[in-house]
Formats: sequence, structure tokens, C-alpha cells
Amino acid sequence: MRDRVVAGNWKMHGNRASNLALLDSVLAGMDGLQGVECAVCVPFPYLGEVAARLKGSSLAWGAQNLSEHAQGAYTGEVSASMLAEFGCHFVIVGHSERRQLFGENDAAVAAKFAAAQAAGMIPILCVGETLEERDAGSTERIVMRQLDAVLTRVKFGSAVLAYEPVWAIGTGRTATPEQAQAVHAALRRRVGEQARILYGGSVKASNAAEIFAMPDVDGGLIGGASLVAADFIAIARAAQRKG
Ligand code: PGA
Repeated sequence: MRDRVVAGNWKMHGNRASNLALLDSVLAGMDGLQGVECAVCVPFPYLGEVAARLKGSSLAWGAQNLSEHAQGAYTGEVSASMLAEFGCHFVIVGHSERRQLFGENDAAVAAKFAAAQAAGMIPILCVGETLEERDAGSTERIVMRQLDAVLTRVKFGSAVLAYEPVWAIGTGRTATPEQAQAVHAALRRRVGEQARILYGGSVKASNAAEIFAMPDVDGGLIGGASLVAADFIAIARAAQRKG
């Protein structure tokens, strides 16, 4: 049985006081949670403080991006070894906001994935189609292209895959469990039985259970709902395997 993963993507939200309050509430709510690896992916400036707060707890933490370069004259960038030095466990790679707003292409995403792996971190690789691509019937071709850009370069290893339809991110519009399952099953054929494949895109406490009930959905990458402790906890609880 694959262990479930529920990872929060805080995006560019929070401040030092609200972060610590959120972490305290999440930690308190995680009591008794089993079979679900929980994590929060936080903005760079907070990594050290979050790491210190979560030390010794069962809540893991990660970053939301990294540079594909090892070091050098790359103003504003953060390298894999810098993250690893803080004990960073996960790092989101190729989020659609990075691809769409910051021009990250498949090659850059693959290079970032490889850099994260080489530094001993677990990349959470995001793939997903736009609404136009879905309407054109290209969903599978697009997510496979995004995944294959990585797989032609390195092995998937113990990385985590996240299927995030772009039209479902932050829109309140979720893929149906069947839509998610269809894409997850196709991705599964490529990455194998051991790989964890998360669904992301407007996952809420109210819809998490039905999505997580799908056989190839191994948890979620949670944006907005990860900023509300009670919602994040409810989603993590929905990810516990029944029976
Ligand atoms: P959302 O974001 O849950 O707010 O839709 C998910 C994501 O972007 O990872």
C-alpha cells in the first residue's frame, strides 16, 4: 500500500506570526493521524523558522521552487544545496504558476527536478493541462509531455507526482473524481505502482474524501485550504485509508 501524502502549498501567503499560529493549530490537529505523510511548502524566508518549529514533529516541510543551477551569478535564485542545508525534505517543481507566470518550460522543470533529487530532496512534480487543452482533448498528451521531459533526463525514483489541472487551481472548480482518476491511471502506467500521485486543484474538506477514494489518487497538493488549519486537517483525515 502506498502511504498517502497531503502537502500544503502556502504560495506567497503568511507572515511570521500567522505562520507559527497556523503550524501550532495543524500540529495539534494531527494527533492520531495515521498512514498520511503531511507537509507544508512555505515561502523561502520562512524556511529556517518553520524548520525550527517543526523539528521532531511528524509534519514535514518543503519549498515551492528552486534554481536549476548549482551556484553562481543568478540574482534572486535559491539553489538545491541551500535548501538541503536547512533540512528541506520536499520541493515543488513545475507548479503551473511557475510555468505560466514565470515562463518555466519543460526543460527548466526537468533540470530543477534533477537538481532537487541530486541534493537528496523529494521533488513534487506538478503536471496539468489548461482548459483549452482539455477541451481540445489533449489532456493526456500534455501531462505525458511534461512528465516525459523529466523521465528522459532522470529516473523518477522516490519523487512525488501531482496532477493539477490548471483550470481547477484556485478557481473553486475541481476535477470530478473520475476525471482525476483517468489522468492518474495514465500517469501511473508511466511512473509505476510505487510512485505517489497527488491530485491538486481546489481540494477542500468537502470534496477531499471522494477524490481520495479513487484508486490511483494517493493524496493531495493543497493551496487555499492549507492556510486554514481546520480545513487542512480535515483533508489530511480524509486521506487516511479506511479499514
Ligand atoms: P488550490 O491550489 O488548492 O488553491 O486550488 C492548489 C495548488 O496550486 O497547488
